[in-house]
Amino acid sequence: MNLSVQLAPKHQSGLSLTNPVMTASGTFSYGIEYSHFFDIQRLGAIVCKGTTLEPRDGNPQPRLAETASGVLNSIGLQNIGVKALIKEKAPIWASWRVPVIVNIAGETIDDYAQLARQLNGVAGISAIEVNISCPNIKAGGAEFGADPKSAARVTASVKAATSLPILVKLTPNTSDIARIATAVAEAGADAISLINTLKGMVIDITKRKPLLGNITGGLSGPAIKPVALSMVYEVAGVVDLPVIGCGGITTASDAIEFIMAGASAIQVGTANFANPRAPLDILEGIEQFMQKEGISNLTDLIGAARR
Ligand SMILES: Cc1cc2nc3c(=O)[nH]c(=O)nc-3n(C[C@H](O)[C@H](O)[C@H](O)COP(=O)(O)O)c2cc1C
Repeated sequence: MNLSVQLAPKHQSGLSLTNPVMTASGTFSYGIEYSHFFDIQRLGAIVCKGTTLEPRDGNPQPRLAETASGVLNSIGLQNIGVKALIKEKAPIWASWRVPVIVNIAGETIDDYAQLARQLNGVAGISAIEVNISCPNIKAGGAEFGADPKSAARVTASVKAATSLPILVKLTPNTSDIARIATAVAEAGADAISLINTLKGMVIDITKRKPLLGNITGGLSGPAIKPVALSMVYEVAGVVDLPVIGCGGITTASDAIEFIMAGASAIQVGTANFANPRAPLDILEGIEQFMQKEGISNLTDLIGAARR
């Protein structure tokens, strides 16, 4: 069976994955920690935690709240910063077979360009995922992803600063995701990933206060799957680029739904917290489905529900 996918067909060196199962940023750390649970080299790609120019401590606690069929988080991009990532993590990734994609976030367009410049040419880094969709930081983040013009400006500035393939990750917290996707595609994205979390909140009724230290957070997990699926379906219909589906994927059948909606690859996020082997279980489930259905090439499934 052939499960390989090309996520950057318009890019000079491309971004070839042996299979469509990726991990979602912020839910799989730097990948290194998970290598104790299973053979992570079998995955299609690993996306690391959102990375900023300087290290960040993130938002005040509490930063996680469980909700019906989901999780609210307000981590606020706690991370080690790009310099430590290049020095400490990239040399480990350079010895891996599985491609690692670095998720980046900034407060200004120049932050994104600087991050892309610093990551350019670093061994062990196969692509950049541009996070214009983080709902948990005061400046930048999802603000860029909610407006087509600024989404395009961030994309173009990253494109100009690196020769790596770039994935742009969209926020669902917008009224017209198709317009944002089109703007990002025209500005030079190689692929589009969606969705990031949906803004939400929880109130602690005994304290009469918002439960999260940041007041609001981002909702993820099975609760958001139908929203993510319809957005993937919509975006795959308007852009001529690979689309990477993300949002509530917990089982192989969830993943297959996204692929049939038009996603060339999928990312597993919150499911990793309950089952650290989830991405591998999902990969094996996709293989079993293909075998059962007599499908030898994954590309035959991509967009199958659109035809
Ligand atoms: C704890 C946590 C941290 C996250 N951190 C990031 C991040 O740093 N960058 C990013 O682009 N997305 C981040 N996300 C969003 C996920 O990558 C994903 O888009 C979202 O959770 C939806 O997928 P899921 O329902 O499978 O979790 C984070 C999500 C969670 C739950």
